Amino acid sequence: MKLSVPRRAAAAAAFALAGLLASGAPAASAAPVAPVTTLAAPDIPLANVKAHLTQLQTIATNNGGNRAHGRAGYKASLDYVKAKLDAAGFTTSVQQFTSSGATGYNLIADWPGGDVNQTVMAGAHLDSVSSGPGINDNGSGSAAVLETALAVSRAQLQPAKHLRFGWWGAEELGLVGSKYYVNSLPSTERSKISGYLNFDMIGSSNPGYFVYDDDPVIEQTFKSYFSGIGVPTEIETEGDGRSDHASFKNVGIPVGGLFTGASRTKSSAQAQKWGGTAGQAFDRCYHSSCDTTSSINDTALDRNSDAIAHAVWSLSAGTTEPPGDFYENAADVTVPDAGAAVTSTVNVSGRSGNAPAVLKVGVDIKHTWRGDLVIDLLAPDGTAYRLKNSSGSDSADNVITTYTVDASTETANGDWKLRVQDVARYDTGYIDSWKLTF
Ligand code: TRP
Ligand code: ZN
Ligand code: CA
Repeated sequence: MKLSVPRRAAAAAAFALAGLLASGAPAASAAPVAPVTTLAAPDIPLANVKAHLTQLQTIATNNGGNRAHGRAGYKASLDYVKAKLDAAGFTTSVQQFTSSGATGYNLIADWPGGDVNQTVMAGAHLDSVSSGPGINDNGSGSAAVLETALAVSRAQLQPAKHLRFGWWGAEELGLVGSKYYVNSLPSTERSKISGYLNFDMIGSSNPGYFVYDDDPVIEQTFKSYFSGIGVPTEIETEGDGRSDHASFKNVGIPVGGLFTGASRTKSSAQAQKWGGTAGQAFDRCYHSSCDTTSSINDTALDRNSDAIAHAVWSLSAGTTEPPGDFYENAADVTVPDAGAAVTSTVNVSGRSGNAPAVLKVGVDIKHTWRGDLVIDLLAPDGTAYRLKNSSGSDSADNVITTYTVDASTETANGDWKLRVQDVARYDTGYIDSWKLTF
């Protein structure tokens, strides 16, 4: 009995952030899509990033030693960044808000062109604490994002997607500026942001190389950059939600970012792989008056700046990777009401090595109350990856979406199964089709 109708075809696997993979897959007979060569991101000149930091340091020095929300040094920092962007052809806007009785400012810079319905954003907070000039926290992220934006202008980049850059005020008071920005966006505008990349502290003096563990495509983009230059990374764990990406994540926007560490101590294992000093903080000057230009690690700042440019270039391009292959089973499988789990099988063959770290699982299940459904992906060796849990309150119809699974420890070839169980009485449905995109 042949249950599955697997087919293999070239899919237009243009870079898609999680959940945004086009659901209208081409038919099996579709011609392979020619790979589009993407222009490689330029090297971001470290000297330029450091020149911005010198300017921010001077601004702090001339304004009472800080660039904090509500102080003159903040607005002077914003004016500096804005003037560079205006001269480079960006469309800038300054958004005002009030926090703790003082006016705060966000700076938004749009690069004209690209599909605004797919906007890729990169940002950094521009304010410091009041106790110091904030050159690592967060002159570093601010300067690197600025220099990346200026590199976009120098290259006169014409990405398929729209590019927007943001510098946030009053992060140090509780992500105030970035929250204000996302709250000011109508939900239709929020949904146009395909991803937000955050950079807060990327030049710590005793650096680690930390990648946020959030949107898998963004995360993988950074990880592959660092593995390409032979620098090991770790997942960022020094406080999830402690920077502006949390504001975006909270409204459902895919996020990612980089971090070189704050007050946490570098372990000896970390000193082994990254150099630096074990038993000392990643940034001994975190939130203090010594967070000056002298407290920056140039190598970390350089690598992270280049990683930002790499991510901005590749995530905004229409087609960054060779077209993916997809394997589909479009045979209907009834899911019995409050009954046993059923599976639908897709056979993958002819591939070498392991499945990707970003394996896309496109699911089309018709059901009159999707909260009843528990869905897993089963790898050829039987390992289960939970795609969806049941929920008593999710009364919507159907599960038509694309999940992303890190399947990099699984052999690609073999029988992959979608396992679906209906765990609650009354509403019913069936697997209409599903597919794996490699
Ligand atoms: N500005 C952040 C803060 O003061 C710095 C920070 C600490 C951070 N931990 C982090 C940034 C983790 C990103 C991720 O809290
Ligand atoms: Zn910060
Ligand atoms: Ca049911």
